[in-house]
Amino acid sequence: MILRPLRNMDLSTLFLLLLSFSIPVSAFEDPFDCHFQVNNLKYDLNPLAGEHVVTRARETPPTREVDSVRISLCSDLERQKDVSDGDQCPSGTRVCLTKTNSKDGSDRIVSVVPIAQTSTLNPSYAPLSSAKGVSILMHGGSYSHPINTTTDVEQSVNITLLCAPDSDPSEPKFLSYDGVRLDLEWSSSAGCGFAAGEDEKNGESPGNGGSSGSGSLSSVGWFLLLLVVGFALYMGLGAYYNYSTYGASGIDLIPHREFFAEVPYMLRDVVSHLCSTVRPRRSSSHRGGYIAV
Ligand SMILES: *[C@@H]1O[C@H](CO)[C@@H](O)[C@H](O)[C@H]1NC(C)=O
Ligand SMILES: *[C@@H]1O[C@H](CO)[C@@H](O)[C@H](O)[C@H]1NC(C)=O
Repeated sequence: MILRPLRNMDLSTLFLLLLSFSIPVSAFEDPFDCHFQVNNLKYDLNPLAGEHVVTRARETPPTREVDSVRISLCSDLERQKDVSDGDQCPSGTRVCLTKTNSKDGSDRIVSVVPIAQTSTLNPSYAPLSSAKGVSILMHGGSYSHPINTTTDVEQSVNITLLCAPDSDPSEPKFLSYDGVRLDLEWSSSAGCGFAAGEDEKNGESPGNGGSSGSGSLSSVGWFLLLLVVGFALYMGLGAYYNYSTYGASGIDLIPHREFFAEVPYMLRDVVSHLCSTVRPRRSSSHRGGYIAV
């Protein structure tokens, strides 16, 4: 019951092929899936998923100016069907600010600023110094500078995420926008990190709408799953091959049985090799026997 070398190669090729499936899985992963880690604390922003709108108004007689921010952190904002294309951010935007000017009851959108976009998101995180929580900086497109209108400036948003258990569902607060950076503050359980080893308890609760569920299995999880599935397939196919080719039964069904039978001896050899490289030094320096410590 010896598998021919060619057959061995076929099986290991199949095995490697199965493993390689884990690579595309990570390649297709969302660039920002609302999970990140800062200083051994993991965060899950899924309680903040879905679309949120926050506004601030300013009286500028004889008009009134309203800044409105649409936010969808875990996925791209959906297109607004009742708004013309020019009056909303391009697709692939996660945070969009629009300025509307109202006069005598008629509204006019005067600027549309893509504050954070998936393609240029490049998120960075920093723990808050003053309170429990984390700040998240995300980047977007360029927009005309409010003062020096001859230049475009990169837009960004700084979200101060405060740890507030039991406050979900919650809405963000508009702090400021200076034409370059938008500052938002958000109190949520999502701001309370959990230890990296601990199981995720946040975001698991049903009804936190918009959660994509993409974080349910990490790349490592997929890799391990495929490893197990691959091994099972290898065992199954190997057993079938042994059965159909050699009429093997019982323990002889195990593919490459000789190899697996060798494993304990190989381990023993490795261990004894490691021990023998350590021991001679000791025995040469204390040849006279052990010294009492
Ligand atoms: C505006 O920006 C341009 C290009 O960065 C710079 O050369 C110019 O000096 C700026 N003007 C003012 C008034 O800051
Ligand atoms: C974002 O805001 C927080 C809180 O105000 C601040 O601590 C942090 O430094 C800011 N991040 C950046 C990149 O400016």
